[in-house]
Amino acid sequence: MNKQVTILAIESSCDETSAAVVVNGCQILSCIVSSQIPIHQRFGGVVPEIAARAHVEQINTVIEQALCAAYPIIKPREALIKEIDYLAVTHGPGLIGSLLVGVNAAKTLSMVFNKPLIPVNHILGHVYSNFLQEQENKCEMRNAKCKSIENTNYNNSSDTLHSAFCILHSPFITLVASGGHTDLILTKGHNNHQLIAQTRDDAAGEAFDKAAQLLSLSYPGGPSIAKSAINGNPEIYNLPRGLSKIHTLDFSFSGLKTALSQLINEKRKSNINIPTIAPDLASSFQESIIDSLVSKTVQAAIKYDVKNIFLAGGVAANTRLRTEFANTASLNNLIFHAPLIEYCTDNAAMIGAAAYGSVLLKHYESCYDVNVTREAELKL
Ligand SMILES: Nc1ncnc2c1ncn2[C@@H]1O[C@H](COP(=O)(O)OP(=O)(O)OP(=O)(O)O)[C@@H](O)[C@H]1O
Ligand SMILES: [Mg+2]
Repeated sequence: MNKQVTILAIESSCDETSAAVVVNGCQILSCIVSSQIPIHQRFGGVVPEIAARAHVEQINTVIEQALCAAYPIIKPREALIKEIDYLAVTHGPGLIGSLLVGVNAAKTLSMVFNKPLIPVNHILGHVYSNFLQEQENKCEMRNAKCKSIENTNYNNSSDTLHSAFCILHSPFITLVASGGHTDLILTKGHNNHQLIAQTRDDAAGEAFDKAAQLLSLSYPGGPSIAKSAINGNPEIYNLPRGLSKIHTLDFSFSGLKTALSQLINEKRKSNINIPTIAPDLASSFQESIIDSLVSKTVQAAIKYDVKNIFLAGGVAANTRLRTEFANTASLNNLIFHAPLIEYCTDNAAMIGAAAYGSVLLKHYESCYDVNVTREAELKL
């Protein structure tokens, strides 16, 4: 395909309202993210009804900002939509009320402006976040300023924007570690994604969030555990590695959370001040999760005989996890890829990237057929 394909993508599956303009599945012209973290912080987690209402308030502004940021010199604003070839939207998995806001906005644009609409699986969106590249000065985030990341310890996978997708000529395994999922996915083509393992209980991000609550650290837990762990010693407490002694690629993190909770209770009974030992606890906890994630992913790569391993999802923002992945991959002659840090948590650019795979396959639906679906979960 020689023509440039420009996609306006919308994401609203959980607590981020996001819109992005992405060219050829790789090049981000704009990506606006309106995060609801401050709204949900006091509840220690996402409240679905509040999330859906906040999406309704934000969606139109976020879409307009994404178009304006992508094409700052085009006037009038009404002309911006002419630049767009396709629309894309997350249709699941996620919170139903939240998903409905994005899907209905996308369907409306599709009908009014007569643009094809591509429904995207949110988890595959995380997988495709690995192909995203920023144009300098092009990405604007409302709540977090975009920084270019030095890709020192991992392979950024492509020199040219379009050729990033060529890596699909060889199969790869992605670990998606997010707030709701911990999945290993084997990809052999844009329409060939196979779930090969998953968590049997909590997701890795969920485990970080629950551990942060136990340690009275702020929400979301992943970044605050990672911050606290910097000053801790991971070898002081030996916390369990879920399912490490069983022959399976599946993950488990609920036993680890219980072990941390029991340890904290014991320390409290001995009158030990928890905040003083929190960095060691956070560091030991983080190390247990990293050990499980890295070892199972490498085992999967060996079992399925693939050379490329990808990391994705909010937990992929963890720099200690990235370092450990890079080191272990290199020891096992594997090539490790990770997304730019700001595209690990939910964003619409990754939805635009995944949608491009459907464009290449000419696989998309009429807007009347696109609906929020409970069937979007990948199945083992
Ligand atoms: N630096 C970090 N270290 C560890 N975990 C992190 C870090 N940054 C974010 N996270 C975790 O990532 C999760 C959010 O990721 P993401 O936005 O991908 O999840 P989600 O969209 O809610 O879930 P899903 O994608 O499964 O629907 C949270 O659980 C958060 O604690
Ligand atoms: Mg997500």
